[in-house]
Amino acid sequence: MKYNVNEIRTHFPSLQTGAIYFDNPAGTQVPQEVIDAVRDYYLTANANNGGAFATSQRSDAIIAEARNAFADFLNAQSPDEIVFGPNMTTLTFIVSRALGRFLDEGDEIIVTRLDHDANISPWTALAERGVVIKWVDFHTDDCTLNMADFEKHLSTKTRLVAIGGASNAVGTLNDLQTLTDLAHMAGATVFVDAVHLAPHAPIDVQALNCDLLACSVYKFYGPHLGVLWGKYDLLDRLSAYKVRPAGNKPPDKFENGTQNHECIAGALAAVNYLASVGEKYGGDFAAPYVQFSGRRLQLKSALAAIKAYEKELATRLVVGLSDIPGVTLYGIADPARFDYRAPTFAITVDGKTPRQVAEALGRENIYVWDGNYYALEVMQRLGLQDRGGAVRIGLAHYNTAQEVDKFLETLKRLE
Ligand SMILES: Cc1ncc(COP(=O)(O)O)c(C=O)c1O
Repeated sequence: MKYNVNEIRTHFPSLQTGAIYFDNPAGTQVPQEVIDAVRDYYLTANANNGGAFATSQRSDAIIAEARNAFADFLNAQSPDEIVFGPNMTTLTFIVSRALGRFLDEGDEIIVTRLDHDANISPWTALAERGVVIKWVDFHTDDCTLNMADFEKHLSTKTRLVAIGGASNAVGTLNDLQTLTDLAHMAGATVFVDAVHLAPHAPIDVQALNCDLLACSVYKFYGPHLGVLWGKYDLLDRLSAYKVRPAGNKPPDKFENGTQNHECIAGALAAVNYLASVGEKYGGDFAAPYVQFSGRRLQLKSALAAIKAYEKELATRLVVGLSDIPGVTLYGIADPARFDYRAPTFAITVDGKTPRQVAEALGRENIYVWDGNYYALEVMQRLGLQDRGGAVRIGLAHYNTAQEVDKFLETLKRLE
């Protein structure tokens, strides 16, 4: 069936307010299904793990099913490879502390200037142990990663490569497959920050063959919750900081204390919501994923359908922006190359600070972000950090062409 954004929007109560949500990279709105799942958890399953009574057993079953759902979402080999946590940043610090125990003075870690700080600071913190940090630059003209620089820094001393799937600031999609293959040839472990990729493209950790990957459910229509995936053997080998009664195997050993069960219930509903998008609109996009079945296939084809729809919106936005005097767009600007970017655009407007632009749009109920969005290195490298960063327009699968047009008209007449 043809993608029907009006039908999609009926699932999202907050969209009915008429506000235009272009702040999606900082967190999306949630469908009624997610709201219901969180409420139902409280009503029918609100208990701690492992009890001998109904609510605890229901709660355990929901959490187990949520792990299955994320194994489908990422194409993990096993639900035991899925670790839940408060957010991606906290999970990444958990991994960096655990991996750090295996690293010696002189070992090298590669990070990139295109990344969100959550995929930088957990690794640079290991410099305290004598680990050497190597920085990969990006091309400032189109904000693509400098692959020659990456290859220059990669060596047999590289123990870990920390890369992003997509830039939350300028939208660039990295060539994860090539980066992972090169890193593995050098013998390095690969950690992928997929926070900004997960809402916009299908992810397949087995095909990619990375070692660890993290994402955040609140960026793709779910509650505030982080998800870490790791190859089971690697997670098993890592030693976790944990309390003694907690399980010694993954994922338990990485899930400290009591988890946010209601958000895990909501996260399960978010994945099932996306699967339903795939069931309805993913048919045309299922072909490359015939090796999958059931929810995995629905999720892959949902994200492929979403990617195609968002590309149309992004093209409309960029064509419109190019008509507005005084607007500078950072990152890939040619729609012919939009397979290499997410629908996330950083712009500046001559004569106005990013905050002034965001405030003016906010007064018209158009929500955009301004600043550095923790992509500190990106903003520094582009020379924007001292000028208030940039305005970020982040499109999602429920945005419409009319919203893009309204945004463009409003931007045009900003005083
Ligand atoms: C690309 C990217 N990585 C990491 C993060 C951090 O995610 P979390 O808020 O779940 O810690 C964000 C949040 O904006 C992000 O956009």
